[in-house]
Amino acid sequence: MGQFYGLFRLLLVSFLLLAVAKAEKDRQHGRSLSRPAPAVKYEKEMQSHYWREDAQKTLADKLDALSQLKKQGAKNVIMFLGDGMSIHTITATRNLLGDSSEKVYFEQFPYTGLSKTYCVNRQVADSACTATAYLGGVKANYGTIGVNANVPRYDCKGAYVAQNQVDSIAKWAQDAGKDAGFVTSARVTHASPAGVYAHISDRNWENDAEVREKGCDPEESIDIARQLVEWEVGKKLKVILGGGRQNFLNETMRDEVGHPGYRQDGRNLIKDWLADKQAQKASASYVWSRKGLTQLDLDNTDYLLGLFAKGHLPYDGDRERNPKNSHLADPSLTELTEAALKVLQRNEKGYFLFVEGARIDMAHHSNYARRSLEDTAEFARAIQKAREMTDVDDTLIVVTSDHSHVMTVNGYPLREQEITGLANKLADDGRPYNILSYANGPGYAGTYTKADGRKPISQQHTEHPLYVSPAMVPLDADTHGGDDVAVFASGPFAQYFSGNYEQTNIPAMMARAASIGPFANVQP
Ligand SMILES: *[C@@H]1O[C@H](CO)[C@@H](O)[C@H](O)[C@H]1NC(C)=O
Ligand SMILES: [Zn+2]
Repeated sequence: MGQFYGLFRLLLVSFLLLAVAKAEKDRQHGRSLSRPAPAVKYEKEMQSHYWREDAQKTLADKLDALSQLKKQGAKNVIMFLGDGMSIHTITATRNLLGDSSEKVYFEQFPYTGLSKTYCVNRQVADSACTATAYLGGVKANYGTIGVNANVPRYDCKGAYVAQNQVDSIAKWAQDAGKDAGFVTSARVTHASPAGVYAHISDRNWENDAEVREKGCDPEESIDIARQLVEWEVGKKLKVILGGGRQNFLNETMRDEVGHPGYRQDGRNLIKDWLADKQAQKASASYVWSRKGLTQLDLDNTDYLLGLFAKGHLPYDGDRERNPKNSHLADPSLTELTEAALKVLQRNEKGYFLFVEGARIDMAHHSNYARRSLEDTAEFARAIQKAREMTDVDDTLIVVTSDHSHVMTVNGYPLREQEITGLANKLADDGRPYNILSYANGPGYAGTYTKADGRKPISQQHTEHPLYVSPAMVPLDADTHGGDDVAVFASGPFAQYFSGNYEQTNIPAMMARAASIGPFANVQP
């Protein structure tokens, strides 16, 4: 009896499982968006030998990279930081460039690794504590820059105590007689570039008014803009290129295009910067427009300060799209990188250059997926320019991100589908859904109705650069993500960057490659 009952149960369970599997299959194949769909995008991909040849090429490249391993160090180090450039962002950018099989330029670099981005008091990090990690090699508290975790955020005094301060690789380079500089598409006082030169307990203290607002005395708690112009590392930077004029000027002063400053201490820090260089009899230039930059004799410039916007530089795609804000007015990240290298290459002992593609992150925060991918594409062009302008035998280039974001690439678009479009299938509510969507952010408002679930979506809208992608949880800005980010390396000691390691190991490996700072003498 028991045996029969067992058999019966087995049959019943099998039958149910089959029924469920069939229903699932019907769901996957039954309801598709009507679009003409060729079975394959490229005929060549139907042949096994196509994939075998691709693998052969990869194997040959690996052998080549091994045979070219260099024991001599790097004279120059260039670090490229794609702010918020998650692995999903890189994957989606391949499709923006044309196809899943594309390589975003830096994906060709011979060594790749993963970096763990958490900070001391948060699982998911911000651009401040991570800047201390990837530039200074020490993890710290969320929101703080250039100090260790003994300094709580908003602390008025802790950041000015020497034992709490964390030096960056820019200082290690300067101490070794190399030059240092940075380029960013954000304000030059924003969190990531501030990691190059600042020590501060709150990333928002970019001017004295912000310090005062949090109840600290701006004459004791020196703001980030002043640190850039007055403190040891900032003063010696040969190249400072980005945006953010407002943090350099008093409220009663106006910049070149009429915007008032944010400072309340009566300072014009741009004038102060120029006066300091002139006192040293150095050739120093301040520029505020693309035109001004192109007119400079960079081969004879010792110090270069370029502040190209009152705040951040525009999204890269917008430079092309908006004629008023056109590429005539705003330099691209690639142009800025080229200018920086021309100035830094004058030092025979070499240099450290930091380049930030800042607006990848800001676009994600607004759930502007397409703009984020466009900025990633420009970031890659800047890296290509740097690799072409430098010698792979003496210049290490490291490309990474500070933290991830919560954008995902949803299944199962066809190969020829536009990445910012709709997936090739209807959801269980009978409505189409986006290939790119966010776990949270302002896109929530356009995603759901109060009474009737998800709002209808049209393909036309989703591919527009100003389209706000859907988000599951309402937040005025999307959050960063906690997953690891990728690291790509090319040049001397690039092999160090493979594996999975703490973000704080990155400056140690760069410093070892260049024989500078506390890691100069570690044996390979
Ligand atoms: C700077 O701005 C403050 C606040 O608006 C103002 O009181 C002060 O007179 C200004 N100082 C100078 C030197 O312009
Ligand atoms: Zn961010």
